[in-house]
Amino acid sequence: MADLEGLKVAKDYHIDTPFANQDGFYVKGANSLDWGMKRHLANIFNPKSGNTVMFAFDHGYFMGSTAGLERLDLLLPKLAPYVDCFMGTRGAIRTCLKPEYTNAIALRVTSGSSMVQADLSHEVVAVDIEDSIRMNADCMASQVFIGADGQLSSIDNLSKVINAGMRYSVPTLGVCAVGKDMERTDRFFKLATRIIAEMGCQMVKTYNCENFEEVVAACPVPIVVAGGKKLAEKDALTLAYDVISKGARGVDMGRNIFQSQHPVEMAQAVHKVVHEGFTDKEAYEFYEDLIH
Ligand code: 5RP
Repeated sequence: MADLEGLKVAKDYHIDTPFANQDGFYVKGANSLDWGMKRHLANIFNPKSGNTVMFAFDHGYFMGSTAGLERLDLLLPKLAPYVDCFMGTRGAIRTCLKPEYTNAIALRVTSGSSMVQADLSHEVVAVDIEDSIRMNADCMASQVFIGADGQLSSIDNLSKVINAGMRYSVPTLGVCAVGKDMERTDRFFKLATRIIAEMGCQMVKTYNCENFEEVVAACPVPIVVAGGKKLAEKDALTLAYDVISKGARGVDMGRNIFQSQHPVEMAQAVHKVVHEGFTDKEAYEFYEDLIH
């Protein structure tokens, strides 16, 4: 066990100082990447706002049929105009999303656990780089379980995915997992996001927390924020507004869109916050207008 007592607490985040190595390309930390990587990142992060609305519908990979995702074939076409990127499994994308839709694709490539298990932290890399390229994936999503039983194997998975992605210029989205027994403090997210970024991911998905702006400042690649459990629409828009105001470059929202009574209108409202500078209040009013 490392000597945690001797560790100096990190504190100089320079929140008001923009990321320094940013000349030439607008996506954080991507300056030194090649054209192909940048092209994929530009498909995900809108070049005008620099941000992304990802729609996460990969829940079936461990939850099976999920409330709100029963009919992906009906849902995905309706959301396509309002989201920048679809995050799902190859089985869901190949069967339910027509290739005519030009939204970016975040392909979930790790798998191996299911809701009937107590410990979900053991996964494998289930999709290889060749199939990711065949699907024209703009990034591969690999889940990492820092502090859990499966930490080592998940880092091994992540390394393999990043190494393959580097060979063929396909970015990797490191997905920071949280478990029921894991803390959701800024201390945890600073640890986890930084480990994931230093492994070589081009972007990190994580959760909101106290001092979130410090998590963002200390992470040298863009952060997108998961929506988490279903909230009231108003609160989900506040979450989106809060994290975008604190430097997140987007949301990767699932249940707070697909479990809303009005998923399409909710996606439109989230889009307003992420890309058009709407406040949460303005976005909620916009949502209310749409549904009435
Ligand atoms: C889990 C994931 C999911 O895609 C994500 O957590 C789902 O989004 P939401 O929490 O908003 O429903 O990456 O590993």
